[in-house]
Amino acid sequence: MDYEKFVDDLLQKYGNDRSNLIEMAFDIQEKYGYIPKELLKSLCDKMKIFYSEAYSSISFFKDFRFTKPSKIVLSICNGTSCYFNGGKELYQEMEKNKTENIELKTGYCFKCCAQYPVVMINDEILINASFEKIKEKIEKII
Ligand code: FES
Repeated sequence: MDYEKFVDDLLQKYGNDRSNLIEMAFDIQEKYGYIPKELLKSLCDKMKIFYSEAYSSISFFKDFRFTKPSKIVLSICNGTSCYFNGGKELYQEMEKNKTENIELKTGYCFKCCAQYPVVMINDEILINASFEKIKEKIEKII
């Protein structure tokens, strides 16, 4: 993929100032969903900074991703209410049945604890979740 135009736009917006690197990383991630290696290399070349320097600054923040996100991010609540009311078993069940386009992870209380177990599929909350409900939602996305 050609990132030249995007990199030029970033430099136009932020200038060639390395102190703006994190703001640039936010823009990159907002546009692509992650920080593509080729894009960051191109940016570093134009800014005349080492890739390793930029990578170490950006990767310090855990919110930045350096791999393309899965099509589906399934986050199962690991808060007390959900964990003890089906969340743990749901996680184990999903772990056994996940495919390569599903990123499975745990979340920490989605603020609807009485409707356990709660999961988040991409940005959508699913209450009273079950394996069947999750499977149905995922099939609609894929
Ligand atoms: S504990 Fe799961 S939503 Fe609060």
